[in-house]
Order: sequence, then structure tokens, then C-alpha cells
Amino acid sequence: MPTCRICGTPLHTFLDLGHHPLSSAFPTPAEARRGDACDAFRYRLAAGICERCALVQLTDDIPHERRPYPGYPYHSSGSSVMREHFRATGRHLLRTELPGRHAPFAVEVGCTDGVVLRTLADAGVRTLAFEPSGYTGAEGVRVHRAFLTAASAREAVAAEGRAQVVYAANTVCDIADLPGFFAGLGELLAPDGVFVFEDPYFGEIVGRTAFDQFYDEHRYYFTATSVRALAERFGFRLIGIERLSVHGGQLRYTLARAGRRPPNRAVAELLAEEAARGLTDPAVLAAFAGRVDGVRKDLVALLEELRATGRTVAGYAATAKSCTVTAYCGLGPRLVPYVCDSTPAKQGRLTPGARIPVRAPGAFAAPYPDYALLFAWNHAAEIMAKERAFRAAGGRWIRYVPDVRVV
Ligand code: TYD
Repeated sequence: MPTCRICGTPLHTFLDLGHHPLSSAFPTPAEARRGDACDAFRYRLAAGICERCALVQLTDDIPHERRPYPGYPYHSSGSSVMREHFRATGRHLLRTELPGRHAPFAVEVGCTDGVVLRTLADAGVRTLAFEPSGYTGAEGVRVHRAFLTAASAREAVAAEGRAQVVYAANTVCDIADLPGFFAGLGELLAPDGVFVFEDPYFGEIVGRTAFDQFYDEHRYYFTATSVRALAERFGFRLIGIERLSVHGGQLRYTLARAGRRPPNRAVAELLAEEAARGLTDPAVLAAFAGRVDGVRKDLVALLEELRATGRTVAGYAATAKSCTVTAYCGLGPRLVPYVCDSTPAKQGRLTPGARIPVRAPGAFAAPYPDYALLFAWNHAAEIMAKERAFRAAGGRWIRYVPDVRVV
């Protein structure tokens, strides 16, 4: 029986999406013809909740040597909305946590294309990224090529001192060794410092039936309830929460050392809301799994009907999320003949497992398909604005979050 990675308590498995390839394993057509292409590996994509600390997590571990697949560089702010979000995050930290500090020092773990640290550095804050790949995406952002652990934190503190702010976006949800990470945070953070992190919110995933947020690079799916327990286990306290609209609904959590600061009202309010919604209740989770199955049936039925009536369909954005959708729904080039994506390193390759050819965005209009399946639904406003001509030409978008609909 799978157990909680943090406290060892048995997990209650509430969602099983079957066997999936790694979401970043885009083979070339030549590799795909061979038997050992990078997308041949499969793992079971299932989610469980810890019956003690309420932490939602993938039930199965992916062998370390299998991940991450280094096939293409990850650019977290390829979207203009995300770039602006990270700039605003930097300004927010300057306003809330860094004013009046003597020689302020901020650290980012994982790197948002350097946008947050760049914003802080431009305002005179000393900055450092903990990024094992060494890639920060921005010139002039100093990088410590290591995961955050007690040892790497001690090295940084010896050279730089302790940090007033440690920030991470879309990173904590994929940290294999969270106890090691929190030990590092204990070394790195100044006594009155804060750790601010943002990740997809399990409450939104359930609320929107956004099952495609489950994939190999998201090990944990946080709630206020589980983050509070996690923080307390490692000597910290959840003191702040903000709701973010990016990436289909995220939360920004602020942690301080235990005993340093009281939690704000938003924390108590969200804890109460989560209890009222029953986000840990097996019946609520079973109902969610039932809705996920309904989306699969509706999406396959719609795509089969469009094919049978001679309509053309293309996928829009070869996201990690699309890998979950195609594997779970059994979609491939028969129902979705190609997908357009703005990431040059994905173009000319095939999507993981489903092996749908990835084309450059220019192919979208040449000619437009009748229907476009929007895999990047979290960027819907930005994409629909950019692709206004598609609808004007009679094209229609297919969305599957929160349910299958044509818009
Ligand atoms: P992202 O939200 O990072 O999704 P995921 O984490 O599931 O991969 O989406 C980024 C992908 O979407 C990336 O492959 C580029 C693609 N994309 C486009 O092709 N066009 C766009 O306008 C946007 C915003 C993204």
C-alpha cells in the first residue's frame, strides 16, 4: 500500500488515470520509430491523500534516473501573462517583505526565467537562485547550482548571510526530498524571514475538475490544510495565503518560523472553507473522480463525432497537461492530427506517448482547423485574444475544463 512521503501514513487512493509516459518526453519521429524512444517508459498516474496530514500526492514514485527528461529547456514564463505575474510578484515582495531591511537578500528556489529575481535586483536587493541546472533565463542573476538542502544552504549562508525572503513558484510541488528542503530552509532563512511559494491549488483542481494538473512533475497537490501541517512538522507556521488566478488557480503560501508571526485572517478563512467543502472526505474525492471520468467520455465522444462528420481538429499547445489528457483519454493523431506550440524545442517532435506531431504556431492558420482543442486552458484569455482571427474565420475552441464545451 502506498504511504505518505512525509509521515509514512497509508494513502487513500482516490484517482487512477492509468499508465502514462513522462510529460516532457517528446521524441523525434526517428526516435519514435525505434523501440527505445524516450516516451516508451510508463508509470502509473494515480493520486492519494494522506489520512493523517491530508497531503495529496502521486502514489507511485518514478525512478530518479527516469526524470527529469532533459529533452528541451523549460521556460516558465513563455506566456506574457506569466511574465507580468512574476514581475508583479517581485514588486509585491518589495512592498510587503523587503522595505526598510538593511542590505536585503532574497533567494529563489527553482527559477521563473529570472523574472522575479531580476525585478528584485533592479530595486537594489541582493539575489541568488538555487537552481541545479544552472539555468536562470536572465542575465546577471547569480546562481548556486544545487538543490536547497541543509548542506547547500550552509554554503550559501557562509558566503552571503541569511535571506529575508525565500521564494519558489511551481517548484515545491515537485521536490522529492521535502524534509531535506525544509532543513535547508531552516539554515537559510533569517530569523524573521519568510518563505513564499506558489503552486497549483488542489481545491481548484477539484472545483474545476482539472484532472490534467496531475502529471509526473507535480508530486504534491497542496491545500491550506496540508501546508499548515507540513509547515508545523518542520518548525514553521503558515501565516499568509493569497489566491492567484494564474495557471488555472494557484495559492501563494507564506511561511515564517514558528512563534515569529501570527497567521492572517485569510488562513483561518480558507481552512474553514476547506473543511466545509470536505476536501479530505473520501465521498467528495470519489465524486471528483466520477466527474473526471465523465469528462473523458464526453471529450472522446465529441472528437469521434467531429471526425465522423468530416470536421478538422487541431490541438493548441503541447503542454504537460495535454500528455495527461491524451494518455487518459486514449487520444492520438487519428482524432487530433497535429498540435501547434510556441516552444521551438518541441516543434518537429511528437507528443509523449500519443505521438501527435508538434507544429509551429504558424501552421495553425494554414489553413485553420474547424475546431481547436485548447490544451493550455490556463492561458485561455491570452491565447483567444492572440488567435481572434480563428474564431472570426468560423473556428471554434473545444475546452474540457471544467467540462467539455465548444466555445
Ligand atoms: P504551461 O502553462 O506551462 O503548461 P504545462 O505546465 O502544462 O506545460 O504552458 C506552456 C505550453 O503552452 C508551452 O508548451 C507553450 C504553449 N503555449 C503556446 O503554444 N502558445 C501560447 O500562447 C501559450 C501561452 C503557451
